Amino acid sequence: METKILSTSEQDIRIAAEIIRKGGLVAFPTETVYGLGANALDPEAVAKVYKAKGRPSDNPMIVHISHKDDMSKLTDLKTHDMEILMDSCWPGPLTMVVPAKDLIPRVTTGGLDTVAVRMPSSEVARSIITESGVPIAAPSANLSGHPSPTTYQHCIDDLMGRVDAIVCGADCKVGIESTVIDMTGETPMILRPGILTVEHLSNILGKEVVPDPALLKKPEISKETGNAVQDPDFKPKAPGMKYKHYAPKAEMAIYRGSSDKVTEAISKRREELERRGKKVEVIIYGDDEGEKAAREFFSRLRECDKNGTDVILAAALKESGVGFSVMNRMFKSAGYNIIDIDNEEGSGKTMIIALASDHGGYALKEKIKEHLMEKDSSYEILDLGTHSEESVDYPVYGKLCGETVASGKADLGIVCCGTGIGISIAANKVKGIRCGLCTTVEMAHLTKEHNNANILALGGRTTEPELALAIVDEWLDTDFAGGRHKRRTDMLDEM
Ligand code: TXA
Ligand code: MG
Repeated sequence: METKILSTSEQDIRIAAEIIRKGGLVAFPTETVYGLGANALDPEAVAKVYKAKGRPSDNPMIVHISHKDDMSKLTDLKTHDMEILMDSCWPGPLTMVVPAKDLIPRVTTGGLDTVAVRMPSSEVARSIITESGVPIAAPSANLSGHPSPTTYQHCIDDLMGRVDAIVCGADCKVGIESTVIDMTGETPMILRPGILTVEHLSNILGKEVVPDPALLKKPEISKETGNAVQDPDFKPKAPGMKYKHYAPKAEMAIYRGSSDKVTEAISKRREELERRGKKVEVIIYGDDEGEKAAREFFSRLRECDKNGTDVILAAALKESGVGFSVMNRMFKSAGYNIIDIDNEEGSGKTMIIALASDHGGYALKEKIKEHLMEKDSSYEILDLGTHSEESVDYPVYGKLCGETVASGKADLGIVCCGTGIGISIAANKVKGIRCGLCTTVEMAHLTKEHNNANILALGGRTTEPELALAIVDEWLDTDFAGGRHKRRTDMLDEM
């Protein structure tokens, strides 16, 4: 197939729109990454997108619109939260998952009854959509599995001869794909993190927004396919999140830990490898450089592919704010090859502990997190939020922690709210949870020995931090007595 190279002139935008209207494929810039567009309402055109990218057909497309009013053509759902997000984030890098109207072909939604919709801020993208007169389905314009394209050259490298046209616009300002948020439930859930963070969206909505728990855990990767193994308890709600992604040709390792030690370890490793004649690329961003890292990351990976890099050594960013979103991509690029520097043995994380709190327990939760990381390198901490002092609802976090432990995604949990009472009630509503609220070290001992509590609850405003940490230690270090106590905990679990 001959691929037309187009500019962003008015005339070329008209040509691009015409190709899409007639069922063809056009790669075009957006503010996040380049997209590969087709008429979202034309099943044959959409099928061609899957083929051109080599993309699995259960991975749904994002449908792009150029006017907020077009949302009501795609979904019947209209909530206050959606309106707030449309007002404050559109046009921009936010994708909302909503129930799909019947006119959207199921090939566009990967067979789902929901559709992901986004109104990009890129002028070029919006002109193409408006001019074409149809909503445009556009996944990132890369071959499936490759790093997402942030310049037109990346699209040319991947798609020349596979698509009808490539619109050569500016480099993408954001550099990572849009934040995907599921608006179908009571509590909005982030399915794919982006430059608009969990914290930011919670602030805008004035209510809690939770990350898909699947985002917080390292998936088991299949040796054959390189994709995440389907774990029914931990199925990402965005189908695309399970696939191998963003993989550079080079081997890649992520160094995680205190920044001095990480820098030292990386430069030592670099010397070793270079002595053996390997070409090494180092990627280090400071914790305050999240946005820069987002903008450059995919492009850096592609440069490495081009210049024959053998090994990429990258430093992990702090997993909060935009850093969380960048690390979501970085982990996948490296196939979760993570070296924990502060952990001498560098291996054997054995116990997963989930932490959750509301605003009243936030400060204590942070102290506990720090304490646990220092206490034992075999603990893996799953921080379920909240992530600030901003007011949130304890039932959401108590339930989230309860479900995380009950489903086996974590071995144990610790929850905190002002008194520990409300959040322990919420956790105890989940079947299989035995959450004990403790205010003394003796209670901590007994709630493990007798009740085999799998979640510990603490009061951030009622128990001094030092005592709280002693309670945590006692609870973790005590063993369940079993025997007659087992009969009783079995009764609890039956309820
Ligand atoms: O920034 C972006 O979003 C770019 C530009 C081109 O707009 N597009 C993009 O599309 O990244 P794509 O196809 O590479 O990623 C779409 C993600 C996938 O993880 C997919 O599984 C998820 O969105 N998704 C799409 N529809 C969904 C739905 N109905 N429910 C849940 N997840 C959905
Ligand atoms: Mg993609």
